[in-house]
Formats: sequence, structure tokens, C-alpha cells
Amino acid sequence: MRPLGRRGVPTAPPAPLLLLLPLLVSLLGAARGVGAGSGAPAELRVRVRLPDGQVTEESLQADSDADSISLELRKPDGTLVSFTADFKKDVKIFRALILGELEKGQSQFQALCFVTRLHHNEIIPSEAMAKLRQKNPRAVRQAEEVRGLEHLHMDVAVNFSQGGLLSPHLRNVCAEAAESIYTRQEDVRFWLEQGVDSSVFEALPEATEPSGLRRCGQVGDSGRPCICRYGLSLAWYPCLLKYCHSHDRPAPYRCGIRSCQKNYRFDFYVPHRQLCLWDEEP
Ligand SMILES: *[C@@H]1O[C@H](CO)[C@@H](O)[C@H](O)[C@H]1NC(C)=O
Repeated sequence: MRPLGRRGVPTAPPAPLLLLLPLLVSLLGAARGVGAGSGAPAELRVRVRLPDGQVTEESLQADSDADSISLELRKPDGTLVSFTADFKKDVKIFRALILGELEKGQSQFQALCFVTRLHHNEIIPSEAMAKLRQKNPRAVRQAEEVRGLEHLHMDVAVNFSQGGLLSPHLRNVCAEAAESIYTRQEDVRFWLEQGVDSSVFEALPEATEPSGLRRCGQVGDSGRPCICRYGLSLAWYPCLLKYCHSHDRPAPYRCGIRSCQKNYRFDFYVPHRQLCLWDEEP
């Protein structure tokens, strides 16, 4: 843990509490979204280094009224990756807008949505996120901790028109991916226990295929169904609150965040091989 504040002496933050990142220091009134909690989402734009070394801009938005966080970044190949955490519904949504190669006859873009259960310790709370400010917006940030690759087998489809019953964010976030919204049996079981209507979820043909389906990379015929793989990375996000101790205070207080990077790999059913052109390896 790096020292915080000036010369490592944690200074008493003014009320309401502001989080100080090691490099991100509160600048009251200077950042967009000041006055979080007033209804408007707070936005933080940071420059981040991607796992391949390239630098991109990432936007982090927090809406403490809706109790949600969203993150968006554009990869150098043009793919737009977004992540939404809905704390009210225990739902997280990953979306990728993948640019097609027009000269290969592919459509302009392909959209994918992956929806899974949100655990509340995965990312800092929305009210803390809404208070983050940075002193130097030009600094390139690299996550302090790289969390292990998570490999998810997406074996259930989400019905877009019913998706609002799972999370109100689904309607906006996954509109372009209406035919390609995926989740998992184990998450569905949890949400059903929470009272989500079962009409949201639909079985995929994958489950009824007797011999199982092959990975798209191993299927020659472009019209055949197969299991597609897509990987994405959340390059930089505040994953933990740091607490400091002070002689002047009776209890530990929030004095910063820990930043994480996490990579995900999704396997999912596609009805035609050509919906998974990027998947070449076995
Ligand atoms: C999605 O749900 C609606 C309402 O229940 C239903 O009419 C529609 O057929 C479903 N869509 C699919 C693709 O099953």
C-alpha cells in the first residue's frame, strides 16, 4: 500500500467524505459530476494501459440513486467494451460491440451481452465511486492488482423483451444485442430465488445436443452451430476501499481505493459459425 496524502500523513477528509486515490486527489468543483447524489451520474475519465500495452481512455460513471456503476472503454481494434454493475438487482452486464470487417462482407458491428450475478465485493459501492476525483487526468493508470482470469460458460439465453424484469439497465445496454444475450444456469437459479420471473430465461439448443457442440474454431462449415469464445478485459476499476487509522479518530476511515484489472472469457452457443469469425484457435 502506497502512502496517502501529503508525505504519507493521512489528512482528515472534509465532509462529505471524499476518497483519495494514491494518484487521484479530490478536486472539489473541478471535476464533472460534482454534486453526486444530486441525481446526475458522476463521471470519471481516466487513461488506462490495456493488457497488450496500448493506452486508451476509460469512462467510469456512478449513479448513487440508481445504485449502479458503468464502465466503458474502446479497444485499439475499435471494439467498444462496457460493463454495468446493478447493485439493486445483483446483476452485472458485459457488452461488446465488435466492428465487422466490411470488406469480408460482415455487417457493421456485432453486439454481445453477457449477464451474470454481481457479488457486492467485486467493485466499490456506487456512492464511493461517485466521489472519486483525479488530480492528473493525463496520467496513464495501471491496475495495482491483476485478478485471475474468469472463465464463464454461458448456457442460457435472456429474452430481451422480458429483460427489464432482471435489470432495468438491460433495455439500454443490450438493445443492439437483443438476439445475443447470455447468462448461466447457476445465476438463473439465484435470481429465481430472488423472485425474478422465469419468463426472462430461455434454454439454448446446446443443452439438447446429444454429443455436445464443438468450438467454432474447429468447425469448417460456416452454417453450423458451435460454441463461440469471446474474451474481454476490464483494464482498470476500483475494486476495494482502503481504510486508514488515525490517532484523532475513533474508527478507521476510508482513505483511498485499490485498483484492479480482470479478464473474462465467455463460451456461448451460436446458431451459425459465421457469428463467431474471430474464434480461430482450437
Ligand atoms: C420473449 O418473451 C415474449 C413474452 O413472453 C414472447 O412473446 C417471445 O416469444 C419471447 N421471445 C423468444 C425469442 O422466445
